[in-house]
Amino acid sequence: MAEQKATNVTWHDGDITIDDRSVLLGQKGATLWFTGLSGSGKSTVAVALEKALFQRGKLSYRLDGDNIRLGINKNLGFSAEDRTENIRRIGEIAKLFVDSGVIALSSFISPYRADRDQVRALHLESGFAFIEIFVDCSLSEAERRDPKGLYKKARAGEIKNFTGIDDPYEAPSSPEIHLHTDQMSLEQEVETIMTYLEGQGFIA
Ligand code: ADX
Repeated sequence: MAEQKATNVTWHDGDITIDDRSVLLGQKGATLWFTGLSGSGKSTVAVALEKALFQRGKLSYRLDGDNIRLGINKNLGFSAEDRTENIRRIGEIAKLFVDSGVIALSSFISPYRADRDQVRALHLESGFAFIEIFVDCSLSEAERRDPKGLYKKARAGEIKNFTGIDDPYEAPSSPEIHLHTDQMSLEQEVETIMTYLEGQGFIA
């Protein structure tokens, strides 16, 4: 956990509540946390889901590994400590989106179970929904896809601490949704998530 450095700071509530915003938007905010190997399909599923939700008149917003690392988290690398801080900050950002009533689609390798559980706890203590989606794909298939050519570089020793090669990935033990992206079509994956969101009352 990051240390609280600022003192004499207090949370300030406004007059409009999360429930008011939910009524306005016609949906319930939630964080959908996609976790899986690089190349497993996290971003692909999130992009397709965002479109499907949009076409249903539902507002979501994607938080994506490379994009966030080019901006707010540009000072973080891939050591265990930096990955933990990466996930902690994104967890806080996702929480702000949920509070705004939006469905946050968060796609990060997030290889450490403890880091993901920390984000889950952060959401639950505020009564916010955290839906963990395991984007499950074998290493051999992710490596075969190698969309950014990074596995090749990692195998050649040009990238150190690459997840799945010389850095760990801890699979979720009980994710809310488990997608096998090397066996399902993109349409089936989106449908699975949409059905879950309808069933749980996040979208009508
Ligand atoms: S996380 O581990 O902290 O959750 P994150 O999802 O933000 O990682 O970033 C992963 C992306 O960074 C990968 O998809 C890949 O494009 C790039 N990357 C660069 N170096 C590494 C590395 N050593 N391990 C994993 N991904 C890396």
